[in-house]
Amino acid sequence: MRIDIITVLPELMTSPFEASIMKRAIEKKLVEVHFHNLRDYTELSYNQVDDYQFGGGAGMVLMIEPIDKCISKLKSERTYDEVIYMTPDGETLNQRMANGISLKENIIILCGHYKGVDQRVRDTLITREISIGDYVLSGGELGAAVLCDTIIRLIPGVLNNETSALTDSFQDNLLAPPVYTRPSDYKGLKVPEILLSGNFPKIEKWREDEALKRTERLRPDLLE
Ligand code: ADE
Repeated sequence: MRIDIITVLPELMTSPFEASIMKRAIEKKLVEVHFHNLRDYTELSYNQVDDYQFGGGAGMVLMIEPIDKCISKLKSERTYDEVIYMTPDGETLNQRMANGISLKENIIILCGHYKGVDQRVRDTLITREISIGDYVLSGGELGAAVLCDTIIRLIPGVLNNETSALTDSFQDNLLAPPVYTRPSDYKGLKVPEILLSGNFPKIEKWREDEALKRTERLRPDLLE
């Protein structure tokens, strides 16, 4: 998979890709991530990429020209499955969407900024609009990093034990069951006996029951 991220703040984006699972996925060449600074695609002085909105109103708007230039250049080099725009008024990200996007070959992610982008970008260049939740971030960069994390960990071979992504919360619309590690007794706080029994069919059944109980208690909406 190849991910091209278009942003006015590449420096805000790089560190999540330089640690842990995303770093390993890039090192193993299971995913390529490329950052494109929108300011490299403008010919205006001071590398201007935004302007006041027509009709008046607070806040700057990202202009269509540099975005069009950047996306057109990328599209002239390969075909893209999706051009995603990160925005609080997009479709709210969930595990089902992440599973689908993780199967794509090449995607572009455009990070919004300031008041957003010129509507003509959304109308003509974007195939999908995604929000990471009902709150407003200062820009799409952190949202894009969240989106990348959730899809990259699903690419086969990225996680050591491939089943571990399949047993994450939200796969099967269930929250994950509780987990424990050593010691089995910490100041009288004991690990459930069943987990120490070595009876794996029973442990599996216990986990399923606990996942269901936890989901009923914390996220009954997932069971509807
Ligand atoms: N940009 C600003 N807020 C956002 C959000 N909640 N999700 C995605 N991109 C955003």
